Amino acid sequence: MKKIIANFKMNKTNSQVKEYIMKLLPRFDRDDVELVLCPPATSLSIANFLLDGSLIKLGAQNLSDEEEGKNTGDISGEMLKDCGASYVIVGHSERRTKFRENGKAINKKIKIALKNRLKVIFCIGESLTDKNLQKTQEVLKAQIEDGLKGLYENELDNIIIAYEPVWAIGSGKTPLLKEIESSMKLIRKTVANDFSNKAGEKIEIVYGGSVDNKNCNSISKLKDVNGLLIGGACLDPINFSQLLRDVKA
Ligand code: 13P
Repeated sequence: MKKIIANFKMNKTNSQVKEYIMKLLPRFDRDDVELVLCPPATSLSIANFLLDGSLIKLGAQNLSDEEEGKNTGDISGEMLKDCGASYVIVGHSERRTKFRENGKAINKKIKIALKNRLKVIFCIGESLTDKNLQKTQEVLKAQIEDGLKGLYENELDNIIIAYEPVWAIGSGKTPLLKEIESSMKLIRKTVANDFSNKAGEKIEIVYGGSVDNKNCNSISKLKDVNGLLIGGACLDPINFSQLLRDVKA
C-alpha cells in the first residue's frame, strides 16, 4: 500500500487544523493509500480526536533525542505517542541544517521513537553542492549508515526512508524520474549491504521534494517508490484531496 505523508511543517494553528480535517475527511475515500498527517505538535491532540474512527494516521514532525527530563522546549517520544501519533519524522533536512542535527542525534532519536512504538519516517537527501560534486551516493550511504547504526533487521519494519533531495524541497524543482529511480536503488543496495538482501527489497522508501498535483502520478508510479512525503502541496485540503486522487496505488 502506498504511503502519503503530509508534513505541515510550522503551519496551522489548532483552529486551522480543525478546519483542514473537517474539509479533508469527507473528500478522502481511498482504502489503497495510507495517509499520515503530520501537523505541528501543538495540534496532535485535537487532530487525534477529530481523526478518531477514520483510516487517517497521525505523525509528529520531530522528537527529542532524550527520553525525559531537563530538555526545556523538547517533546519526548512518549509524549507524542500519548497524544495519538503513530509516526514521527526524524532527520528532516530543515532540522539537520537549521538545528544542526547530526547522524548521532538522529540515530538516538530513531531508537527512542522505536522504543515508544512510533514508526519512523527517516529523512535523507543530498544538498545541491553534494549533487554538483557528484557526492550523492556517498552522502546517502553515510546518512543511512549513521541513522540506522545498531538497529536489528526486524526493526526496519517500522522504518520508512524518505528520500528528499535538499535542493528539491520547496524549490519547485524535482530530480528526473530516472534520477529518483537510481537513488531508490542505491538506498535499497545500502540497506541490503548493511542488513540483508531481503531487508533491501522490503524497506519502504518514499520520495519528497516539490511533489505537486502535476508530478504526483508519475513519481508514485515508479516501481521502487512506496509513497510520497509532501510539504507545500498538502496545506490546502481541497487541492490535497485532488492530489490524493491522482496518486498511483
Ligand atoms: P515540499 O513538498 O514543500 O517541497 O516539502 C517537502 C518536504 O520537506 C516534506 O517533508
